[in-house]
Amino acid sequence: MLRQLGLFSASSTAVAGAIDGSLWEGSFNGRESSIHQLSPYVGKLKSGMAGALIEKFSCPGDVVLDPFCGSGIVPCEALLRGRHAIGNDLNPYAYLLTKAKLSAPATHSEAVTRALKALDEAATETVSLREIPDWVRAFFHPDTLKEAVALVHVLRRRREHFVLACLLGILHHVRPGFLSYPASHLVPYLRIKKYPPKLYAEMYRYRPVRPRLLAKIGRAYRRFQPPERTLDRVVLHENAMALPLVCNSVDAIISSPPYYGALDYGRDNRLRLWFLGVEDYREVDAKLTSNDRVYIPEMTRAVGEMLRLLRPGKCAVLVLGDYNRNGRKQDSASALIEIVRDNHCSKGSAEKLLVDEIPDDRRARRMTRTTRHETILVIRKH
Ligand SMILES: C[S@@+](CC[C@H](N)C(=O)[O-])C[C@H]1O[C@@H](n2cnc3c(N)ncnc32)[C@H](O)[C@@H]1O
Repeated sequence: MLRQLGLFSASSTAVAGAIDGSLWEGSFNGRESSIHQLSPYVGKLKSGMAGALIEKFSCPGDVVLDPFCGSGIVPCEALLRGRHAIGNDLNPYAYLLTKAKLSAPATHSEAVTRALKALDEAATETVSLREIPDWVRAFFHPDTLKEAVALVHVLRRRREHFVLACLLGILHHVRPGFLSYPASHLVPYLRIKKYPPKLYAEMYRYRPVRPRLLAKIGRAYRRFQPPERTLDRVVLHENAMALPLVCNSVDAIISSPPYYGALDYGRDNRLRLWFLGVEDYREVDAKLTSNDRVYIPEMTRAVGEMLRLLRPGKCAVLVLGDYNRNGRKQDSASALIEIVRDNHCSKGSAEKLLVDEIPDDRRARRMTRTTRHETILVIRKH
């Protein structure tokens, strides 16, 4: 279901005609660049939607910014469509994923060579299981865990973002190509009741890292042609409320900012974050904008920052979710419209463009108290 709403009048810079939601209908898994499937991320934007919005609100050669880039869908699509790309996210896992995608080796064979070098070096590393917390050990066969931890040490030392993201992408799942005992893919939950070791002994055996990592790298290049080297790409790990970028330097902002208290990006990625050196995921969640208490003041500053960075006449296009909390509907898009009206009306104006129903297969927690609609909001800088 899709509901078209208001629309800014066409201008020299962007929106001429309605945005067509049918552009991103259906699954993109088999048709998008395989780089988008490097590793899962809760709340990921559909690549077809990101692509359509980039095409609509920017031109080739423009600078496109996503200040809350998560898994990097927007900066990646921007580069693949001939734009210069800037991605930013305060979550270390999101930063790694975006960095990995934007700096992927030019060819599959180069990626394999880099992975093999790191694997050889990792074979000489010593890892003590006693230094690893029990909750992490619970996910892996001890020998698999030692190999994975040794490899992560090497990859982090060498700043091999792409290979490290591939490794995190095969960390947990129920499939044989993954490293953990049976577990869910998106958010790390063990599935021991569903797959008891007595009945599914093969799922609890040692899983060598090397063949799984190389197969994963192969899958990453299945439908991926790295973008032109001449396009600039910048990945930042900053608070979206204060970005180290100059005023009036951005042609379009395309982003899905955090929803009104909807997701815990640290908690949901706790196992991957541990491998990135974050001992306690709560430190990450405490820094991110999500809970209702900080949402309005922090998003007020973030919108102010977007209006500072945009060139006059250009737009920030924000995909925002509705959220049901204790039977009360929280509408992030309406909250942002009020923010613009009450705090930034001299600098810009905001309008809803489209309300789109999110199908169950794209939602992290189906049929529960979770986001059911996305609204596309357009903020235009005067
Ligand atoms: C809805 S998600 C973005 C998902 C992304 N569009 C994608 O396709 O993967 C919102 C992101 O905002 C990040 N975030 C939350 N508060 C932030 C802040 N104050 N500064 C920077 N990033 C923040 C979260 O880590 C999360 O990745």
